[in-house]
Amino acid sequence: MTEKMSIPLIKVYMDEDIKNAVLEVLDSGWYILHEKVKEFERKFAKFCAVKHAVCVASGTAAIFLTLKVLDIKQGDEVIIPSYSFIATATPIMEVGAKPVFVDIDARTYTIDSEKIKAVVTKRTRAIMPVHLYGHPANMDPILEIAKENNLYVIEDACQAHGAEYKTRRVGGIGHAACFSFYPSKNMTVCGDGGAVVTNDEEIAEKVRKLRDHGRLDKYVFDLKGYNLRFNEIQAAIGIKQLEKLPKWNEARRNISGMYNQALEGLVATPVEEPWAKHVYHLYVIRTKKRDELKEFLSRHGISTLVHYPVPIHMQPAITSILGTQQSLKNTEKFAKEVLSIPMYPGLTKPEVKYVSDKITEFFEGCK
Ligand SMILES: Cc1ncc(COP(=O)(O)O)c(C=O)c1O
Repeated sequence: MTEKMSIPLIKVYMDEDIKNAVLEVLDSGWYILHEKVKEFERKFAKFCAVKHAVCVASGTAAIFLTLKVLDIKQGDEVIIPSYSFIATATPIMEVGAKPVFVDIDARTYTIDSEKIKAVVTKRTRAIMPVHLYGHPANMDPILEIAKENNLYVIEDACQAHGAEYKTRRVGGIGHAACFSFYPSKNMTVCGDGGAVVTNDEEIAEKVRKLRDHGRLDKYVFDLKGYNLRFNEIQAAIGIKQLEKLPKWNEARRNISGMYNQALEGLVATPVEEPWAKHVYHLYVIRTKKRDELKEFLSRHGISTLVHYPVPIHMQPAITSILGTQQSLKNTEKFAKEVLSIPMYPGLTKPEVKYVSDKITEFFEGCK
């Protein structure tokens, strides 16, 4: 019998180099929107193969500011998948617009592009696909519908740093993209943080202003803005993490290969479409026995989570404002079946084997 292990769902990487980078900022006397932020923005834009990155307070702030800059407001509609974190939807409501929910495709769990056309109305202003779990949404059909209907495409790339669609990094495919650097993401700034990336100079400039009170000059403000700034300590951490991100994404892909091999046939394992490079922000399996499996793994020291047990269109915060929403078949079914199992670059082969063996043992016990 193998010895019991204790395996978290995710683990944030930390080393002396990162700690020293933080100490350097503390000694510098510059803490907000200074040289480190500029350096991180330059490097992150280059990583995403876009012209501009503007760092802001969180992924949610990135989405909110992008919507503001695109003048999306009361009376407008934005098409999104319901199968995501709630922050895909709430900034839309914050600017006064209405999120219009679309079901997901059963292979990638990303927005079903074939179902978008049916919900486009004359009020639709944008489509916001989510590159969920690190797998890109199928962007070409989305871009085509957007072009036909004169809509913006905003990528919610909060879970997909480094993922690729047809060999292009996500982030530069739509008009703008939003990233999160929350601690669980493929790279983090060890706190809240986010970025808007875009090839459009006007969008970048306006986000830059809005994040900092609408500032034109030291004490002149030409837009009504917000304080959604980014700080130097987080930028210093971001620079260090970004250096390691390509290697980490490869490690995630290797771990997923091991899991796939061990779990094929027992549960539905993640699909990587031929046109996609998945970066496995989460490794999500699907089984009708989800709740029993979760409980079994917990008893054996393995942490898991459900992303997401309640689809956005069914969240009380949403229905209390928008009313009961039309039901979405795949979204509602998968919310009952998905389970995220441990995934982070430092997960060792014996740990992957332990998790896989325990899942196998669970299903053997069900026979
Ligand atoms: C898909 C998605 N959108 C938006 C967000 C919001 O990002 P943040 O938590 O940095 O505000 C997240 C992060 O949790 C996310 O996963």
